[in-house]
Amino acid sequence: MLCDLRGRPEDGAFADGRSRPGLERRCRDAELHAFGAGKEVRAAEVVGLLCCRPSMLAVTAELFRWSAATLDDAGSQRLSCRSVDRSAEINRASWDERAPAHAASPNYARQQFIDDPSFVSAVARFDVPLLGDVRGLRGVHLQCHIGTDTISLARHGATMTGVDFSPLSVAEARRLSDELRAGVEFVEADVYDAVAALGGRTFDLVFTGVGALCWLPSVSRWATVVAELLAPGGRLFLREGHPMLWSLDERHADALVVEYDYFERPEPMVFDEQGTYVETDVQFQTTVTHVWNHGLGEIVTALLDVGMELTGLVEHDSVPWEALPGQMEQTAEREWRLRDRPWRLPHSYTLQAVKRS
Ligand SMILES: C[S@@+](CC[C@H](N)C(=O)[O-])C[C@H]1O[C@@H](n2cnc3c(N)ncnc32)[C@H](O)[C@@H]1O
Repeated sequence: MLCDLRGRPEDGAFADGRSRPGLERRCRDAELHAFGAGKEVRAAEVVGLLCCRPSMLAVTAELFRWSAATLDDAGSQRLSCRSVDRSAEINRASWDERAPAHAASPNYARQQFIDDPSFVSAVARFDVPLLGDVRGLRGVHLQCHIGTDTISLARHGATMTGVDFSPLSVAEARRLSDELRAGVEFVEADVYDAVAALGGRTFDLVFTGVGALCWLPSVSRWATVVAELLAPGGRLFLREGHPMLWSLDERHADALVVEYDYFERPEPMVFDEQGTYVETDVQFQTTVTHVWNHGLGEIVTALLDVGMELTGLVEHDSVPWEALPGQMEQTAEREWRLRDRPWRLPHSYTLQAVKRS
């Protein structure tokens, strides 16, 4: 089976059955599947066409497995679609396992929400100068996770609904909202299904970000959902990790090395990692995730294409999580910033856009 991949320069490193140093983390599962599943030579050929880089080998391996059962003349197209659905399943399992650990972690400050009725998350505090007064607004928070930012916006005076596709995240969000009597509604749904899941309701504010867009394969589909969720005059507030930051290899502690995609690509980048971004002793069983980057121009263009008017785009020299371990220090606002010459890198950005009609 592997000989069908041999001869492609991009995949050649795997033809002898050995992974390259540095790619092992992402390729562990791939090797298991790729070396164990091979029966159908024709399937491998299709997979070979879909696979353009070694870092995509895990995806290829998944397709490899499916292709043995489902290949037909339209095979490559169908397999490509199925990989996206499979990505959502893989990612949901990862978030479901992490949600209770996040709720228990000091980083999400659950106890501070309970102890202090005026407490809001560090993310929501950072946002205030650009977000402005949200009192009386009907807001929806896409990919709200365990609801701490959603509840923070409710504490700022908005009427909030949170949406997330991870049932365990939604359960944690509801538990906190109930305990605080925050009156926030949480809906379990994929972002791409949010319009239907919210019954066609529209909102004054769509709030999202801080590790949200990277889980979505298509930023233009996301922009369509945002526009449909907004009432005329409604506003998108997106504060997100900068795509330039996402493209850097976090395994380097002493250099900024561009390793991952900057532009959106159909295939996910596949990571296999034990940990999470908060303090916890929990050992996670689900370690594989599928993510996508979206260039800043692609995000802006996607919003313009659905008729949104860009009203603000500010790049920040800090980000809410320790994105490059070993190279960052914490700021007074509980953000993270490069210790050495932070002005070299846009760490995050705030984008605002309005639906005019
Ligand atoms: C890093 S968290 C969001 C961050 C949020 N700002 C926070 O820190 O609480 C990412 C969230 O996106 C959710 N998510 C990922 N893909 C999704 C999708 N396709 N539809 C809805 N939610 C999704 C996950 O379940 C997770 O709760």
